[in-house]
Amino acid sequence: MTILDLAPVVPVVVIEDVGTAVPLARALVAGGLPVIEVTLRTPCALDAVRRIAAEVPDAVVGAGTVRTPADVEAATRAGSQFLVSPGCTPNLVNAMEGSGLPFLPGAATASEVMVLAERGLNELKFFPAVPAGGIAYLKALAGPIPEVRFCPTGGIRPETAHEFLALSNVGCVGGTWLTPADAIASGDFGRIEKLASEAAALRH
Ligand code: 3PG
Repeated sequence: MTILDLAPVVPVVVIEDVGTAVPLARALVAGGLPVIEVTLRTPCALDAVRRIAAEVPDAVVGAGTVRTPADVEAATRAGSQFLVSPGCTPNLVNAMEGSGLPFLPGAATASEVMVLAERGLNELKFFPAVPAGGIAYLKALAGPIPEVRFCPTGGIRPETAHEFLALSNVGCVGGTWLTPADAIASGDFGRIEKLASEAAALRH
């Protein structure tokens, strides 16, 4: 599976209450965004992955903020279908490769991209996308390293997503704008579905 080609936008979600995981995932799928990255930043994140994997068959649920081999192990056991990391260490890449799951290792500089490309990894997360140089930096990477494609994440907004998606080395973009904390907390999944359907209309 090529994660970058499944959907133009990957919602990056922070789940505080596991009871919101399934309705949230259903709203994103209904809006047309089936690929969901649940960040391992909250105590219930792995439970959220487990529930979405079990109860929302049309979702492709993965774990984000994967930082250690232990995270890889836990995320895999919970039923993650892909793994995303904000950056990379050799131990982490070894563990992600060992999981057998598709994964997007994080990189933010030409050297980091080259280290990962040397290992045959040509699909990466570009993080933190906007602070690290945004569109101008991605365009600059496409010259010397055209074979590596990215999912930029970090600072991307609905108004700027299409500019990233227009780049030759961008497969999809990620972001938290689709799942505002207040909408999740108040159970306003209709708003989340609407945000998802607007994002799903963006095309590469
Ligand atoms: C991530 O974890 O990938 C980013 O924090 C998402 O960034 P955003 O909130 O700027 O979309």
